[in-house]
Amino acid sequence: MASITPLFDNARTTYLWGAKGGVGTSTVAALHALALARAGHPTTLVAADGDHGELAAIVGMPEGLGPVDANAAAGVVAGERARVVVVDGGCDPALDRAVSRRLVVVRLCYLALRRALAAGMGGTDGVVAVVEAERSLGVDDVEAVLGRPVVATIPVTAALARLLDAGLLALRPPRLDLSGMEPASSA
Ligand SMILES: Nc1ncnc2c1ncn2[C@@H]1O[C@H](COP(=O)(O)OP(=O)(O)OP(=O)(O)O)[C@@H](O)[C@H]1O
Ligand SMILES: [Mg+2]
Repeated sequence: MASITPLFDNARTTYLWGAKGGVGTSTVAALHALALARAGHPTTLVAADGDHGELAAIVGMPEGLGPVDANAAAGVVAGERARVVVVDGGCDPALDRAVSRRLVVVRLCYLALRRALAAGMGGTDGVVAVVEAERSLGVDDVEAVLGRPVVATIPVTAALARLLDAGLLALRPPRLDLSGMEPASSA
C-alpha cells in the first residue's frame, strides 16, 4: 500500500505556519500527522486558532469533535510512545510559542518568500516547499532567500487534490516521502 513518511519522528511538537494563505499549510500538517500516526505514534492534529473543523475535513473525520485524533483518522491503533502534536498555525509564526520544530510552508513563489521574511524567520528551523510544475524559482532560491533548509518538498498534483476533495487523504495515503534533511535546532 502507498505510504507517507513523516517529516521527522523525533519531535514532540511540530508547528507549521504558512507564509501566505492557501499555500497548503493545513494539508502538510495533516500529511505529517497521518504519517506519524501510521508509524505508531499517538498523534493529535491541532489548529492553533482553535478551529479544528477544516483539519477534520481534510482527514475525512466528523467535525465538531475538537482536535483531530490522527490515529483514528488513519485507522491505526496508537502505540505506547509519548503523544506527539502537530499544530497547524495558519499564517501565524507564533515566535513566542515553545515548540520542538517550527517549519514554514511556502510555494515556490516570490510573494510567499517575501511574506515569510516579513513575518520573521527567527525561530523557524526549516521550510516545506509545496511545488507546482514550471515555476521559475527553485529549492535553492528558497534556501538562499530564507536562510533555512528545505526539509521536504511536496508536489502539487491532481491526484492529491482529488484525494483531498474526496476526504480520502487518510484512507488512501499517497506515496510521499516527507523526510529529508533534519533542521539543526530542536527543543
Ligand atoms: N500538494 C497538493 N496538491 C494538490 N492540491 C493541494 C496540495 N496541497 C494543498 N492543495 C489544495 O490547495 C488548497 C489549499 O490547501 P490548504 O487548505 O492545505 O492550504 P492552507 O495554506 O492551509 O490554506 P488557508 O490559508 O486557507 O488555511 C486546497 O484546495 C487543497 O486541496
Ligand atoms: Mg489552513
